[in-house]
Amino acid sequence: APDAHNPKTFDVILGKVPDDFKSLHEIPEEYAWTNLNEHPSLDSDSVPIIDLNDPNASQLISHACRTWGVFQLINHGVPNNVVEDMESVAQSLFSLPAEQKLKVARGPGGISGYGLHLVSAFLDKKLWSECFTILGSPLEHYAKLWPQGYTKICSITEEYDKELGRLSSRLMWIMLASLGISKEDVKWSGPKGDNHEAHVLQLNSYPACPDPDRVMGLVPHTDSTLVTIVHQSKICGLQVFQEGTGWFTVPPVPGAMVVNVGDLMHILSNGSYVSVLHRVLVNQTQQRLSVVYTYGPPDNVPISPIPKLLSASHPALYPPVTNWSEYIDTKTKLKGKALASLRLYE
Ligand code: SIN
Ligand code: FE2
Repeated sequence: APDAHNPKTFDVILGKVPDDFKSLHEIPEEYAWTNLNEHPSLDSDSVPIIDLNDPNASQLISHACRTWGVFQLINHGVPNNVVEDMESVAQSLFSLPAEQKLKVARGPGGISGYGLHLVSAFLDKKLWSECFTILGSPLEHYAKLWPQGYTKICSITEEYDKELGRLSSRLMWIMLASLGISKEDVKWSGPKGDNHEAHVLQLNSYPACPDPDRVMGLVPHTDSTLVTIVHQSKICGLQVFQEGTGWFTVPPVPGAMVVNVGDLMHILSNGSYVSVLHRVLVNQTQQRLSVVYTYGPPDNVPISPIPKLLSASHPALYPPVTNWSEYIDTKTKLKGKALASLRLYE
């Protein structure tokens, strides 16, 4: 097994292995962050919890998108067993020995595979987390990770993808409809509203850390998506930032999904909806898992404030970009190394 005490192998492991971490007596320098607590954490349950079956769900969602940029959703229609099965798949994959996980290590410049969170490329310090990123079919990766039983975990993942795709699309249209935008106003929707949005599935594990105040599970960032849907395990860690107030924990609510407004929805809505700044803290004794479904437009559509929302008194606040990839490139370049994870236009 890789030797966590040897800095060379440690580097090679990319995503760390919980077992290796358990034997660490001190946080390695490359994982120790400074200035972590310049904003206090506020204990609160004020992130809105919305029932999708509530007759007022649309208004509540729209309000949450304008004020918080995030909400928890219950009665979202994704069957319990689909969520539970997906969480066990994630648990099983992270529990594999490091050598096995490294068989699908993400290559340089790649998206899919095992490794650190994609945002790590722009950070000077390492994150206390490991990820499987799945773009497209999981088959190839799963076959290498789980030669005996990959068909089962493939179908669980595909079922999860299908359900979350449906939910994301539904939420996106609810958000847009609340602004007076219909399918005809958004270029990429087909005649029947059958869009072909892109998505990435990200499985995250935040191993327990003996000194959680010195490490970062995931740095503050906004998502470069239309919407992101997070299923978190029962362990706290996710926090969202409210301007002028501070960091609020998003407590795990049984059966709920956390829905983030992403940067692209922020732009489409010309700033009516705000993409939420969020981060993940690490627990001292328990591993935390999350399954993150990131949802964006097909890569051939321009992103700009929807013309119907603009007028002389409401000019476009954001310049158009040719597509999703260009947005991410521009965000990376303009924000520079340290801030690559923040929303492009403040
Ligand atoms: C993320 O922001 O992508 C991760 C959120 C989480 O782990 O809860
Ligand atoms: Fe995120």
